[in-house]
This record gives sequence, structure tokens and C-alpha cells, in this order.
Amino acid sequence: MAAGHGKIILFGEHAVVYGSRAIAAPVPLAVRARVVEEDDGVWLVVPRWGVEQRLRMDPSKQRSFEVPAALILNELGLTDRSMRIEVFSEMPRAMGLGGSAAVAVAIIRALDRHFELGLSDDAVNALAYQCECVAHGTPSGIDNTVATFGRPLVYRKGDPPQIDPLELPKPINFVIGMTGIESLTAKMVARVRDGRKRNPDVYDTMFKGIDAVSGQALEAIRRYDLERLGELMNVCQGLLNGLGVSSWELEELIQISRENGALGAKLTGGGGGGSMIALCPDNAGQVVAGIQEAGYQAMEVRIG
Ligand code: PMV
Repeated sequence: MAAGHGKIILFGEHAVVYGSRAIAAPVPLAVRARVVEEDDGVWLVVPRWGVEQRLRMDPSKQRSFEVPAALILNELGLTDRSMRIEVFSEMPRAMGLGGSAAVAVAIIRALDRHFELGLSDDAVNALAYQCECVAHGTPSGIDNTVATFGRPLVYRKGDPPQIDPLELPKPINFVIGMTGIESLTAKMVARVRDGRKRNPDVYDTMFKGIDAVSGQALEAIRRYDLERLGELMNVCQGLLNGLGVSSWELEELIQISRENGALGAKLTGGGGGGSMIALCPDNAGQVVAGIQEAGYQAMEVRIG
């Protein structure tokens, strides 16, 4: 089946919207989709979200998950075709793991296969970016890029964006802790934008600081210096907290991870809820158990 990858942002979320570098990597959670024959309009089926409905092309009637599907069909010139688009997501919704971009990529690829459109990865990425614009307003483009290419990368926004593949000398183990609280990326991006309006110099200095942390993190990854990488994650978290995008639950998960021996921990993605990541080279089990004991969900992932 056609797939879009979920992702974690290791460094640089939010600052990436203002031109700083960010480092992201796919996680082994994907969204898969297929298109099957149907003779009565366009149907959208997402079993995990309990969605099975006819897609409405009138924007005023559409629910949030219909909007990107309608946009994609419009852009690909397929609105007058009948079909059933089935989407199977392994990813929890709104947990800051790039689910919306992964859904868009999976649907575009499923349509590409079914209708033999011959879309390149760059074309898939560009259309998924348009979907992100509808969902988030001013996305940096990092989510759709990792969802499309499915490999670790360093990203800097621009026209065109700078996308450098990142080679890890060896895989790195992380734990993802989920707050269970929906992260509304658009709301968090707006919060940062408002804060910056009130205090441009301070915010721009923090973005520069995050860019510097990302640069040092790249060095640490290349040297496989995980102690240093963890320390930089903690610094990055401090700056993200300064931007106002952390939350009580995220801070709790971060403290639990550090107390259980994680080398570093920070929120990942939009924040406000959603997920955090902890660097756990050899104590992932203990960190997962600590997080679960506090009543949250956690999973181990290996990057690279
Ligand atoms: O919440 P997520 O996984 O969609 O990540 C958002 C990342 C931000 O930097 C906050 C926004 C963006 O467009 O890059």
C-alpha cells in the first residue's frame, strides 16, 4: 500500500518556521492508503478514526479531515471520479508526530498508483505541503518532507528549502512519551508568532539559539557523542519552554525520563500537548516503565 511516514523532530521545531535549521527523522509508524473502485462518489474511510463518509466538495460543509483530501483531488483533477479512499493509520492523531502530513502523503501516493499519474517524490512533497498550509497556516514544510522521503534530514525553510540527508554513524534509541492531549500545531505556531510580535528581539535571539543548538547537535550526532546530544536536547527544551510551547504534562514526562536515566529529553513537534522524546541509549525500558507508571503511553524507537 502507498505510505507516508510519521516523524519526530529532534531539534529546531518552531524556530524552523523562522528560518532556523531543524533535524528530523522518520519513526517506524506509518499511514497507509489505497484507492478502490466505487461507483457512487468519493468515499473516505479511516477505520482508526471511525470515519466512513462521502467526501463533500463544498468547503463550508467539510470536517477537518476532509479538507486535505478535497484539495488533493482538486489539484490532481480527479474530483469527478468515483472512488473509495481507505486510510490505515498506525499513528495516534494529534500527538505531534506529523500524522496529518503522513495522511496527505499516503493519499497522494495511493491516487498516484491507482490512476497511474506518474508523480515524482518532489511532486508528492509539494502537494503535501499545500495540504499542510491549509491545516497549519504557515508550515515550515519539514513534516511533509520527512513524510515523503522517510529518512533523517536537516531542513531549512526557503524557496526552495534546503534539505540535507543526515547519515547517522549508528542507530540512536529514543523513547517517545505521549501526553494524550491533542497538540494543535496551528495554535502553538500562532502563540509563538504573537509572542514574537510583542518581543521580536528576544524571540529572534531564541530562534538563533535554537539554530546554534541544532548545529552543535549535528556535530554530536556525527561524532556519536550521545552525552553531548542529550545535553543539547535539554538546552533546546529550555528554549522551547521559553517560547511558551511546553506544558505541565510535557514537563512531567521530561522530568520522569531524566530521573530514569535518559541522557536528555525535550518536547517534539508543535508542543502544548502531543509528545516528547527522550534519548535512551541503553535504558529505554526503564524510561518507558516510568512514563507508563505515571499513566501515559510510551514507545521505543530506533532512528537511523
Ligand atoms: O506538531 P507537528 O508534528 O506537526 O510539528 C510541527 C513543527 C513546527 O515546527 C512547530 C511547525 C512547522 O511547520 O515546522
